[in-house]
Amino acid sequence: YGTSGTNEKGHLTIGGVDTIELAKEYGTPLYIYDIALIRERAKGFKETFEKLGVTSQVAYASKAFSSIAMIQVIEEEGLSLDVVSGGELYTAIQAGFDPERIHFHGNNKSKEEINMALDYGIGCFVVDNFHELEILSEACRSKNIPASILLRVTPGIEAHTHDYILTGQEDSKFGFDLQNGQAEEALKLALAKNELKVLGLHCHIGSQIFETTGFKKAAEKMIEKLAVWKQNYDFTSQVLNLGGGFGIRYTKEDTPIAPSEYVKDIISEVKTLMKNASLSMPEIWIEPGRSLVGDAGTTLYTVGSSKVVPDIRKYLAVDGGMSDNIRPALYDARYEAAIANRPEADCEETVAVAGKCCESGDMLIWDLPIAKAQPGDVLAVFCTGAYGYAMANNYNRITRPAVVFVENGAAALVIKRESYEDLVRHDLPLYAHK
Ligand code: LLP
Repeated sequence: YGTSGTNEKGHLTIGGVDTIELAKEYGTPLYIYDIALIRERAKGFKETFEKLGVTSQVAYASKAFSSIAMIQVIEEEGLSLDVVSGGELYTAIQAGFDPERIHFHGNNKSKEEINMALDYGIGCFVVDNFHELEILSEACRSKNIPASILLRVTPGIEAHTHDYILTGQEDSKFGFDLQNGQAEEALKLALAKNELKVLGLHCHIGSQIFETTGFKKAAEKMIEKLAVWKQNYDFTSQVLNLGGGFGIRYTKEDTPIAPSEYVKDIISEVKTLMKNASLSMPEIWIEPGRSLVGDAGTTLYTVGSSKVVPDIRKYLAVDGGMSDNIRPALYDARYEAAIANRPEADCEETVAVAGKCCESGDMLIWDLPIAKAQPGDVLAVFCTGAYGYAMANNYNRITRPAVVFVENGAAALVIKRESYEDLVRHDLPLYAHK
């Protein structure tokens, strides 16, 4: 994966840094990000659009992993940013990200969040529903500030992925239904509001998608409507935002295509569809999250106890689990892993990697072929960069791990490990301490 390798000590290295040294210095569980790989992915998306001669914005979906340092890397790479909450927006602003290139998502933005975004002067609101259209327009009028918007539509597409991460189907909490007239109604309302500038349409059909059919079908459905709306309302979509969702390889079973291939294939279809509809080519925006940071992340754990259930399996427990990576418990997500202090040792057995939370579902990997691991060995779980730290939690009052960025042989701590003091920081006693 990325810049990982093995050094003269036989230890796993990432970005030219010995992971065992990192585990010693920062403790485990530890998230490590290979920054060179994130830059490569970012450039890959941008250059593909440039080569195709298509005006674009590649917005990093910061829900996949947001932190000040992460946003700084995205800023350096010249990407735009998708935020979905006041907290993600605040993080972006704290990182010094250009507000003009921030797109604000969410199906229930509060008035406070909308005011905050208007005050920062963000580039675009992705309006999800009628309520938002009203409260955004009120906020704009009272501040006398205009807002650029995209209308999020659900095109009625079923992408092939886990049900919980599907979003483009008709029965979804997100967006205006494209087929039943809702989206058209929203467009009419928005066009009648002087304070709102409708840049175009947005859709996101789901996540961890391996083929382009769904994206192309969604584009087709949107372009069909755009042709009608051009006739009826003289509306021209300057922007078509096709969302994120490009799948990555977590294990050998996953067979994604290269990020640039997704883009090339989708764009060529959009060009044809626009031409056939006699419409001019809009700017294409995309919002990759997982495909920018997923395989750049690795989690290090220290191996502790084990238990053999005769004739069934051997459980090997590590010092983290669903508190730092809930994806296996939530989505049945699969990962590969290796012993970081001897990654090249031959596999001797198959184990089930368990976490340390008080819950049977707290498993990281159900069947990992691995060398015989001892307490104190360091286990590296790969491809944990997206929705890993981002979904970490304090279940069992376990502290969230630290995060380290590595690049060109150097490591930088970018999120400190939580302390026990952090855990009780917002607790207030009911009685004075005796
Ligand atoms: N744009 C929108 C509007 C989205 O809702 C999402 C993801 C993205 C972009 C980025 O999708 P990506 O490129 O990362 O697939 N927690 C789940 C994934 C939830 C995705 C939510 N929306 C997981 O761990 O798989």
